[in-house]
Amino acid sequence: MDKIILAIESSCDETSIAILKNDNELLANVISTQIAVHQKYGGVMPEIASRLHVENIGVVLKEALEQAKITMEEVSAIAVTSGPGLIGALHVGLQCAKTLALMYNKPLIPVHHLAGHIYANEYVSPLKFPCLAIIVSGGNTELVIMDKHLSFNIIGETRDDAIGEAFDKVARVVGLPYPGGVSIDRLSKEGKYTYKLPRPLNDHSYDYSYSGIKTAVINLVNNLKQKGQEVNVPDLAHSFQKTAVDLLLDKALPAIDEFNCVQVVLAGGVSANSYLREQIVERLKDKEVEVIIPPLWCTTDNAAMIAKVGSYLYDEKVFADLSLSANPCWKLEDYRKF
Ligand code: KG4
Repeated sequence: MDKIILAIESSCDETSIAILKNDNELLANVISTQIAVHQKYGGVMPEIASRLHVENIGVVLKEALEQAKITMEEVSAIAVTSGPGLIGALHVGLQCAKTLALMYNKPLIPVHHLAGHIYANEYVSPLKFPCLAIIVSGGNTELVIMDKHLSFNIIGETRDDAIGEAFDKVARVVGLPYPGGVSIDRLSKEGKYTYKLPRPLNDHSYDYSYSGIKTAVINLVNNLKQKGQEVNVPDLAHSFQKTAVDLLLDKALPAIDEFNCVQVVLAGGVSANSYLREQIVERLKDKEVEVIIPPLWCTTDNAAMIAKVGSYLYDEKVFADLSLSANPCWKLEDYRKF
């Protein structure tokens, strides 16, 4: 019998439903993005995100089933992002998943959003172990070692802001539109490295601190304004991006030798960054390690990545009952506790 996973993702500002057959055949991956609405506010407005998920989820479900040409009866299980993320947004996907599980008597599989970002790479190549996953998103900066499937050992993380958060705040301070990472990436190509910024927590640990770099940029902009001087925005974008990404890789890559990794994967929204994608390949070109970079469609939130994890969890019968709730602060290592 075919294994068909219907997966739902609604943790932030994308409503997405995917249908995955027998681990590898992606029959549908419908994504409704709210970016245009949130852009007006310079960031995601949680209340608006929840309302838009409510409006969109039924349409997205119908479209996914039509694209996949299957009926709900044929689905083997419902996978759903149950954390981390915006609580109101998560609840919409969760309610949809629970209703479908109840109505059609299907198992319910809770999926950790960051596990999804890691497993998005399996649409490029199978994960190989030990693997170093560099998770860089709007809400997280984590270094994870995996010794086998569904085994997540967090060796380092940010002690304050996530790297994507720093990109977004820096962009806002110089008047660039949301999502800031995209704007900074684009503009940095026109600039050069002229502003020297600090490298907080520049030690041999695997932890990060991105709030210091962000604050340094805010202070720099305010000081220049007070002196009546112009900020060279492309140069600032370039300098910030180089500092943030160099620090990320300088601290992450030594883990390859320490943990004998045979593979490195990037995960999360910031993995769309062109300088990061170029640098990781360049720095590892002479090393015996496979580098997987997710295709751009996989770097933004989508349910295809949730379906991938759901498919592995289905094999291990990791199922929840209908009392499942959203967990906005769910730790990746606790992915079996819900
Ligand atoms: O993974 P994601 O969609 O959201 C979370 O689950 O947190 O990541 C969104 C983040 C935002 O901070 C956005 O600015 C950043 O990814 N981002 C980028 C780029 N594209 C998106 N950051 C740097 N360069 C990019 N090209």
